[in-house]
Amino acid sequence: MTVKKFYVTTPIYYVNDSPHIGHAYSTIAADILNRWKKSQGYRTFFLTGTDEHGLKVQKAAEKSGKPTKEFVNEKAENFRKLFENLNIKYDRFIRTTDSDHKKVAQAIIRKLHKSNDIYKGKYEGLYCIDCEAYYTGKDLVNGCCPIHKKKVEWVSEDTYFFNLSKYQDKLLKLYEQNPNLIRPESRRNEIVSKVKSELRDLSITRANFSWGIPFPFDNKHILYVWIDALTNYLTAIDYLKSKAKFKSYWPVAEHIVGKDILWFHTAIWHSILLSAGLKPSKVFAHGWLTNKEIKISKSLGNVIDPNKLINKYSSDSLRYSLFREVAFGNDGEFSEKTLATRINNELANELGNLVSRTLTLAEKFSDSKVPKGKKNSPLATSFKRTYREADSQINNYEFHHALETIWKFIADVNRYIDSQKPWDLAKDEKNKEQLNDVIYQSCESLRAISALVEPFIPETSQKIVSQLGLKTIPTLAKYKWGQLKAGTKINKGDILFEKIDFEKAGIEDLFEKLDLKVGQVWEVKLVEGADRLYQIKVHLGKFGHRQIVAGIREHYTIAQLKGKKVIVVANLKPVKLRGVVSQGMLLAAEDKNNVGLLTVANSNPGDDVFIYGLEKKPVENLSIDEFIKITIKVKGGSVFYKDKPLQTGKEMVRADKVKDASKVR
Ligand code: MSP
Repeated sequence: MTVKKFYVTTPIYYVNDSPHIGHAYSTIAADILNRWKKSQGYRTFFLTGTDEHGLKVQKAAEKSGKPTKEFVNEKAENFRKLFENLNIKYDRFIRTTDSDHKKVAQAIIRKLHKSNDIYKGKYEGLYCIDCEAYYTGKDLVNGCCPIHKKKVEWVSEDTYFFNLSKYQDKLLKLYEQNPNLIRPESRRNEIVSKVKSELRDLSITRANFSWGIPFPFDNKHILYVWIDALTNYLTAIDYLKSKAKFKSYWPVAEHIVGKDILWFHTAIWHSILLSAGLKPSKVFAHGWLTNKEIKISKSLGNVIDPNKLINKYSSDSLRYSLFREVAFGNDGEFSEKTLATRINNELANELGNLVSRTLTLAEKFSDSKVPKGKKNSPLATSFKRTYREADSQINNYEFHHALETIWKFIADVNRYIDSQKPWDLAKDEKNKEQLNDVIYQSCESLRAISALVEPFIPETSQKIVSQLGLKTIPTLAKYKWGQLKAGTKINKGDILFEKIDFEKAGIEDLFEKLDLKVGQVWEVKLVEGADRLYQIKVHLGKFGHRQIVAGIREHYTIAQLKGKKVIVVANLKPVKLRGVVSQGMLLAAEDKNNVGLLTVANSNPGDDVFIYGLEKKPVENLSIDEFIKITIKVKGGSVFYKDKPLQTGKEMVRADKVKDASKVR
């Protein structure tokens, strides 16, 4: 039987700077795909690495004051370390400064030359160093590169051209006959129309700097960095060294790239391959991770450091949340808060909880061993369907859907346990066999889950099998329901995912959920049968009025309150106190001797109370439980949240009668 092959590549990353989350993104995707195929029994090859030549890198090295080679060595190491922290299992980490790569890049140039596709000329035009790409005037936005929003350079130099325009018809035919070569389809259509409308010959050498691979036909020139870089995909599978290896992997190559570099990987790369007599490879373009809808990128100054997230949470939670949150072909917002929300929901509540409750059952009712069970169960059918669906979704690069599918199975197992009520079964010895079967099926489900989730969250998958008392994660190829051995000793360990407290983790300022407004007291009544309470009507200007029940009768007379400007929590969930509805709360501070309302003098009813620099995002019906987590303090009569004063547009908020207080309620 011939073994099926799979070859997946990531872009190779420029080493001008440190890796950020966008770089982690393509690489994790390739790792997921590769692990999935490997688990299915494919012989796989997974390539990633660094793009180390070109003007951008040379300039960064100059700026650092280090010799270029030393600089790129250090930077490449950062990528390697990040991938280690992310549990990326690549087969080769290529660097374009590797000696075998230089030979392959030059060999390909010789092929293009042999096909009469290289000629000498003069290039005059625009160049973006950040993209390392040539632009025309109509590509620019306000005179700047559309991606990096920076001014482009005017370049004028002697160069060698690649006869790209010659490939127009061939490319169009290729894309028509192989609709799957470029995915997603929308991006394929964009490429096709661009090939139809503009395919100019490409300058493939540079002569005014030296950090690159020499052009084999003229030693005054070096290869344009993109030509050098693209050929890395051939180097890694031994294009020059082993015909057999190359032949087995090249026909099944799939490149994962960001949408910004799809043109290079299609029109340009496919033409080069055609010219060199090689089969064009498949490409999938993913979208951008964005922050407030702007691409996350060093040059735009909004990077997220993946190492920080890994250290604070875990590699698995980053891997999971990135691929559950964003549809792989689309742009998508990502933040630390997204990650923490995913941990709390699907990882802790759903998966973590299932593992913990299943193993607790085995611990309690089966002497910490896997009991005997039937070889089949409705869960086995659900698993088979899950695997089939997830497989087709993964082959379509729909990682978010695949995760949804797998988590539906996790929900099925949780529901199964709920419906079988093992805790009730355990009350009567005559149910022992049924109880054992429920525990067995639940444990077997965990084994099945470990195989399904391994490509996404490998560390967690290993923890699940270890807690089940097994050594290795089952592969998808060999997995069969019912092979978990009765009698296996389980080791219930720590819970898989700790829940994240957003406030403690510094992800969220609860204060932003509050809606504080200036109110003016208008009417005060006693509440019958409650000697501490007043029923107060407060004006909130254009926001109408509120009825609030406040326990301040011992501290303020009715006359002192009337007309007073106070601070109202305007979005608290209404409650009934002594039969009277209270639609909010007046903020007051308390020290040993006094209770004093928070107050303002010169602001108007309805004015906003805020903290400078913190955007308000009030929620509807804030619960008292959430409200009391927010610590507002009084210092010297002024009122602070995290050392920032509460204010209206006109003045600081002050506390009546109280100088210092550690709590405001
Ligand atoms: N060196 C070239 C690729 C050569 S491949 C033969 C390059 N390097 S890069 O470091 O600038 O970018 C590498 C990849 O990271 C690209 O696919 C790019 O789309 C991706 N990302 C960079 N920022 C990104 C996001 N904010 N979101 C998702 N991916 C993005 O281009």
